Amino acid sequence: MITLDVKDITKTFGSHRVLKGVSFRIEGPELVGLIGPNGAGKTTLTNVLDGAIKPDGGTIRLNGTRIDPLHPYEIARAGLGRTFQVTRAFRRMTVLENLYVPAMAMDARVNHKEMEEKANEILAFLTIDHLRNEYGRALSGGQQKLLELGRLLMLNPDVYILDEPFAGVHPSLMATIYKWIERVNGEGKAIILISHQMESIFTLCRRLLVLNFGDLIADGPPAIVKNDPAVIDAYLGVEEDMSGTGLLTQEATHA
Ligand SMILES: Nc1ncnc2c1ncn2[C@@H]1O[C@H](COP(=O)(O)OP(=O)(O)OP(=O)(O)O)[C@@H](O)[C@H]1O
Ligand SMILES: [Mg+2]
Repeated sequence: MITLDVKDITKTFGSHRVLKGVSFRIEGPELVGLIGPNGAGKTTLTNVLDGAIKPDGGTIRLNGTRIDPLHPYEIARAGLGRTFQVTRAFRRMTVLENLYVPAMAMDARVNHKEMEEKANEILAFLTIDHLRNEYGRALSGGQQKLLELGRLLMLNPDVYILDEPFAGVHPSLMATIYKWIERVNGEGKAIILISHQMESIFTLCRRLLVLNFGDLIADGPPAIVKNDPAVIDAYLGVEEDMSGTGLLTQEATHA
């Protein structure tokens, strides 16, 4: 069974304590929303989880093995992958080549025919197969987000972390990303979804983690978390897309 065990992660930039001892555990194919106001530390936590930055303290275990001392490529091989809030498609490679990179990075002797079949299947699923020979730079922002999801699918880790996959995405592509998330989760993978679009969070996630100024202030089912006074306080005065969450009405009654 997939397990991700995060214990007491701390990170300070200069004198700014951005993560103040974050702990949580994911077991099995969970679909977890990670929310919190701007600057709460969500992307920093993602960067720590994928090894891009090293924590000052704490441990991270993936499927029982400590990964926090490893290099990012070793962590990817161990089974944790992420997308970026600001997309990082290779602009001078074609869409198809973009998809080959993670597969070849994982295994240089990868069977090319199988890789091509998998890439084409993913492009069709993401509705961008007509763009397979276009350069990364020719894609719209939303299409680049889809391409990143495709790259992650080529890697096919145990734990997927999606940092703002809906930001800047045209509404017509949202449904594709929803389907992508439900399919990957349905295939038994664990997903951590970071989003300011509360509707997506409340539609997709069965558990929410709430970060506020580097503290994990809530962890539980959405219906309970959204009524938590600490969560309501954290969101007071924050202009977030709260449609369909009940958080706004809670704010009103709380205030
Ligand atoms: N490399 C860095 N050096 C210094 N400070 C940083 C660095 N990266 C992030 N920070 C600070 O850490 C805090 C947390 O930032 P982070 O990007 O993790 O927040 P976030 O929850 O992802 O916010 P958003 O919802 O806006 O994406 C912010 O105050 C940010 O300015
Ligand atoms: Mg962020």
